[in-house]
Amino acid sequence: KQYRIAVIPGDGIGKEVMPEGLRVLEAAAKKHGVSLHFDHFDFSSYDYYEKHGQMMPDDWKEKIGKHDAIYFGAVGWPAKIPDHISLWGSLIKFRREFDQYVNLRPVRLMPGVPSPLAGRKPGDIDFWVVRENTEGEYSSVGGRMFPDTDREFVTQQTVMTRTGVDRILKFAFELAQSRPKKHLTSATKSNGISITMPYWDERVEAMAKKFPGVKWDKYHIDILTANFVLHPDWFDVVVGSNLFGDILSDLGPACTGTIGIAPSGNINPEGNFPSVFEPVHGSAPDIAGQGIANPIGMIWSGAMMFEHLGEKEAGKSIVEAIERTLAERTLRTKDLGGNADTTACGKAVADMVD
Ligand code: NAI
Ligand code: MG
Repeated sequence: KQYRIAVIPGDGIGKEVMPEGLRVLEAAAKKHGVSLHFDHFDFSSYDYYEKHGQMMPDDWKEKIGKHDAIYFGAVGWPAKIPDHISLWGSLIKFRREFDQYVNLRPVRLMPGVPSPLAGRKPGDIDFWVVRENTEGEYSSVGGRMFPDTDREFVTQQTVMTRTGVDRILKFAFELAQSRPKKHLTSATKSNGISITMPYWDERVEAMAKKFPGVKWDKYHIDILTANFVLHPDWFDVVVGSNLFGDILSDLGPACTGTIGIAPSGNINPEGNFPSVFEPVHGSAPDIAGQGIANPIGMIWSGAMMFEHLGEKEAGKSIVEAIERTLAERTLRTKDLGGNADTTACGKAVADMVD
């Protein structure tokens, strides 16, 4: 089978790290007999916006909706266009219209990367954060009344649906079941938030019954964030609602070093729509154009894309190549204390793939 990948570099360093991501994908595809076809798109960028007055063409869904996956760099050029226009005009449309209800991020301390947490070494921190990506606290149900008076009143509802909660929990339990430790942790706050969070807990309990091989526990979000920092070795798969997952999925990668290496997937697990794989970082205008951006977040996102497509060996070979490159400490970018440029680092990882 040949996989068709939509390639969207976007803005700033997105355009610089994308060629390295493609280089490594091609190297792994060749080694593992996987056939990839790339279609390149220039929309979802400031350059496109400047020419067309919008972030994407009207028929963007037809253009990329039938691909097996979308490989995405970064979008945003705040000096020229407000972030809410660029992000809501592209990335957030993908998430919503393609029903990418899972936001998935690995939290893994890599060799040769100093952890901001004292005394941790590779192997100590290795877990996944699974964030609900379509409902929960980020709803548009609410309003504002009596503005600028003493009676001013604002409200915003948390919306949890049985389908929405169950499908993210099922994904997280399946992921836990596939891992050696088979351990799931749920983020809750049912002591303070007395309607939606007890419901979330109830659904976790119900889903757990279908996965008798998975051990599970739950923590209130406040102590859970503390434990990410104090005891990152306690976790294997951590699942949270949209807001809690958002917080945890930034905190986790921050515990394992530079933002330049963190990958993510916005996933529609059923494959009814393409999923988006992208580095966690943005377009980094402060270093764009210098050729010094770390390409590893982009490259690792490619490994997640292979994994999602079912090409586990090809995905694994990329993660291992990243680990070996970082462990050697010779071809590292500036953010990791080295002086290699983006291309040299990308080539080093591509050469390590086997
Ligand atoms: P950013 O992630 O672009 O940069 C934050 C800091 O990290 C900067 O100092 C940057 O130089 C550094 N950095 C980021 N990636 C790096 C890499 N690969 N190698 C070395 N250093 C790296 O976040 P910022 O500055 O808040 O946002 C810039 C633009 O990117 C904004 O328009 C923002 O909206 C957008 N953005 C887009 C995202 C996306 O496309 N998913 C995600 C985050 C931000
Ligand atoms: Mg965030």
